[in-house]
Amino acid sequence: MSDKYQGFVQTPIGKLLVKNLGLPNPTPLERYAAGAPLVDGTVLVGGRGRLAESLPGVLDLLGIASTQAPDADASYKGLVFDATGITTSADLNALRDFFTPVLRRLDTCPRVVVLGTPPESVEGGERVAQRALEGFTRSLGKEVGRGGTVQLVYVAEGAEAATASTLAFLLSPKSAYVSGQVVRIGATGTTKAAEVADWQRPLEGKVALVTGASRGIGEQIARVLHRDGATVVGVDVPQAASELQALMTELDGDHLTLDITGKDAPQRIAHHLKEKHGGVDLVVHNAGITRDKKLANMAEDRWDSVLAVNLIARSGSPASCSTRAWSTTTGGSWASPRSRASPATWARPTTPPPRPV
Ligand SMILES: NC(=O)c1ccc[n+]([C@@H]2O[C@H](COP(=O)([O-])OP(=O)(O)OC[C@H]3O[C@@H](n4cnc5c(N)ncnc54)[C@H](O)[C@@H]3O)[C@@H](O)[C@H]2O)c1
Repeated sequence: MSDKYQGFVQTPIGKLLVKNLGLPNPTPLERYAAGAPLVDGTVLVGGRGRLAESLPGVLDLLGIASTQAPDADASYKGLVFDATGITTSADLNALRDFFTPVLRRLDTCPRVVVLGTPPESVEGGERVAQRALEGFTRSLGKEVGRGGTVQLVYVAEGAEAATASTLAFLLSPKSAYVSGQVVRIGATGTTKAAEVADWQRPLEGKVALVTGASRGIGEQIARVLHRDGATVVGVDVPQAASELQALMTELDGDHLTLDITGKDAPQRIAHHLKEKHGGVDLVVHNAGITRDKKLANMAEDRWDSVLAVNLIARSGSPASCSTRAWSTTTGGSWASPRSRASPATWARPTTPPPRPV
């Protein structure tokens, strides 16, 4: 939906047409601005499970106002339901009991989070009930409307103390556009989370590498990482050097111009990170190219160039590099934007490449 349409439906004639012709009336999505509170309103907390007792304390730590006592006259910006205590299909009634009375009393752009237990970690009726939460949250996500989002977070046994950063993201406008997702905490066996001193700048002290950072999505990723406290090292091709340098100067970051498909690119990036920053905590492999041609018309060189940038450079770089610059001090993170399915843009690594030590 274009911004022009959104602007038009706010005008008197636009409002009239929306009402009489039944045109879509999109809610402007709230976006997070640096320094703003994570949640502008109150979060209602419900459910009984492993997390219920600690939830108010976690939200308090994040500076989020919450209550466990629903008030018939109050409206809510967010809802968090601890469904980890649900062990049978009959227990799922607790979802209706909690959500139905409050769904018409949500502020615009509300945030809903359901917390569950990974189904694969439990058996029988409990597994069925926990698996059912996925369908429940996806269908509630379609219903909630008005810029609202609904997510399911499966929290593994033992990872109860590691929910803060996930809740901070999913309950705040930082997660605008993200809905109907299933997030897993502790699924890889890591059940502890690093301490965060300042939730306004959770990436303070971290070094983040962003490829393709001079423009587009990469530029916005760099801006967000900088906003959240990270030192950003932007990478882009030599042709984009001046835009890259200007942006990284604005963000107090660092830059490196090279083609990521170059044979020595992994070594050069790793050397730079190690020498100038002592390593890297976060890698966003964003650089990518599109050669939109039907597969039936696809020339070999176009096919090869897409694979070289979008897949081979991303999956090969760190693994082919033995320096510890690619390893991270705190477990680290690896991300790569997904593209729409199209003949020339499908190539994306689905899992992070192995991290050398
Ligand atoms: N635009 C979309 O709608 C969309 C949707 C989903 C995913 N994506 C993916 O997100 C990523 C960014 O998309 P965008 O729209 O911002 O693209 P863009 O073309 O605006 O920016 C891509 C950046 O990557 C850089 N780059 C390309 N090849 C490189 C190489 N070999 N070495 C170093 N840098 C290189 C470019 O110079 C450019 O700065 C891409 O991977 C794209 O496939 C885009």
